Amino acid sequence: MCGIVGYLGHREAYPIIVKGLKRLEYRGYDSAGIALFDGSDLKVAKTKGKVVDLEERAAQEITKDGTIGIGHTRWATHGVPNDVNSHPHYSNSGELVIIHNGIIENYEPLKKELINRGYTFKSDTDTEVLVNLIEDVKKNEEVKLGKAVQIALNQVVGAYAIAVFDKAKPDEIVVARLGSPLAIGIGENEFFIASDASPFIEYTNKTIYLEDEEMAVVRLAKGVKVRKIHDDSLVDPYIQELQLNLEQIEKGGYDHFMLKEIYEQPEAIKDTYRGRLLADEGIIRMAGVDDNIQKFLNADRIIVVACGTSWHAGLVAEYIFENLARVPVEVEYASEFRYRNPVITKKDVVIAISQSGETADTLAAIKLAKQNGAFVFGVCNVVGSSIARETDAGAYTHAGPEIGVASTKAFTTQITILSLIALRLGEAKGTLSKSDYHYYLRELELIPEKVAQTLTEATNQHIITISEEYKDASNFLYLGRGYNFPVALEGALKLKEISYIHAEGYPAAEMKHGPIALIDEQMPVVVIATRKGHYEKVVSNIQEIKSRAGKIIAVVTEGDQAVKELSDHVIEVPETFEAFTPLLTTIPLQLLSYHIAVMRGCNVDQPRNLAKSVTVE
Ligand code: G6P
Repeated sequence: MCGIVGYLGHREAYPIIVKGLKRLEYRGYDSAGIALFDGSDLKVAKTKGKVVDLEERAAQEITKDGTIGIGHTRWATHGVPNDVNSHPHYSNSGELVIIHNGIIENYEPLKKELINRGYTFKSDTDTEVLVNLIEDVKKNEEVKLGKAVQIALNQVVGAYAIAVFDKAKPDEIVVARLGSPLAIGIGENEFFIASDASPFIEYTNKTIYLEDEEMAVVRLAKGVKVRKIHDDSLVDPYIQELQLNLEQIEKGGYDHFMLKEIYEQPEAIKDTYRGRLLADEGIIRMAGVDDNIQKFLNADRIIVVACGTSWHAGLVAEYIFENLARVPVEVEYASEFRYRNPVITKKDVVIAISQSGETADTLAAIKLAKQNGAFVFGVCNVVGSSIARETDAGAYTHAGPEIGVASTKAFTTQITILSLIALRLGEAKGTLSKSDYHYYLRELELIPEKVAQTLTEATNQHIITISEEYKDASNFLYLGRGYNFPVALEGALKLKEISYIHAEGYPAAEMKHGPIALIDEQMPVVVIATRKGHYEKVVSNIQEIKSRAGKIIAVVTEGDQAVKELSDHVIEVPETFEAFTPLLTTIPLQLLSYHIAVMRGCNVDQPRNLAKSVTVE
């Protein structure tokens, strides 16, 4: 978590860093800070709160000139979010200043040792320990900043992306990474440092993504020198040409990124299957799967590891894979999987799903699976991310940048990729008849159009009216069965995340084993009741809610009558093959949570306590 930005060049650093931090706020927004070097002095402003609060603080406290600087937006781990714990952190001498994304796990013994040597600490952070450790090394061993950083990092256990600046060497910034992402943008006589490329996309498309255990000295006149932290060997860095453009990371007329991303789903799903789904020819072409088809076909089982919304996509995949490709699937929370000594064999295929490609638990689960000989396939959105690099093979979702903290288009594009894989395997294994296979391919191709039909202004207005009625509810229940059970979980998660209303997702039939006790006239119940998929059984569940006076908001197939008669509100989605219904039923639930959150005055794109990319365990 946390976003870091640095600039070294000929332009004013302040506006570049502040704008960059705003783009990285998806990574955390508990506090923010900036350090600028104006040619003679270091000026630091930092505050609890968001980057806009930092701007106010900076206006009062510092002059904003200087062409070199570093900035930070924080998601607190060690030390509560307050002004003192905000980054950047100074070393005791005031010579060094650091920003850090990650956790130094052995900071306590290191801190004790430094205190014994006379160092004092203002904050509760592990980061302040690291900057003083670097200072201590630099003084005692009489080495330059780069070397001091390297020696210090060899004493550290944990994860980090750091940028360190030394007043005595004002033409360089030293950066390093282990477990947290770090990109270096290379311009004309200027350099950018950031957690991802979005802060510098309008200045350069040339980027070096540091690998784990690499550090770099970025020097104005001399460029970037990358080396391995542990063995000191020099690395010839790969300079990547970015495909990202500015438009993709701006709101484009929408009030929030989340809304923009909801509306991007028809195009995003198309981008996901573009070049892969050739419905007319009856072909699915996915290099990562095709090149490893025997591994998939010989697998005893597929284990899906993921967190959050990606885990919900994995649950949908469980239904799709088992049904279409007849292969056993287990879906695991990566955080549980990594620590429970799981049984993993060489005949397992592990599919890791992650929008950011940086989630620490998922990354650790992948490493464990690889150690045990499993073949690991990644489904990521962020190109070049840690998970994309760590996996044996994979497929990108190509959803474009997702900036709203609550995941939307990542979910539907993950389901799209997983559906493609299941269909590819079903065809290769012969578990699907030819005619079914062709029909499913054509249906999948139609999904973007059908998603667009669920996003019409009429549907949106209808959902706004429903949101008005229930925006003050304290609890919500979400029910679904089969393919739509994970959608119920995802719908509830979206509402919790952005509106802070307590919500539970349940398989509809489980309702009678507990949640039914909660139902009264105060309880809105969102039921996914599409015509296929245990329709009659869901209708019975709706009757059970109705007879206990619960309020029913049903997501139904176009033209439905039975559920309509029983429900307080219905939202229609077009008909499709049952396995693809989650791609449609999810959409109104995203809009419902969005509108309720807006009406409750919540910060939709930056909900409290959350971060988009969770790079700590
Ligand atoms: C965080 C985000 C969620 C996301 C989860 C997993 O909790 O707020 O939206 O689903 O991490 O992230 P990943 O990037 O691995 O999909």
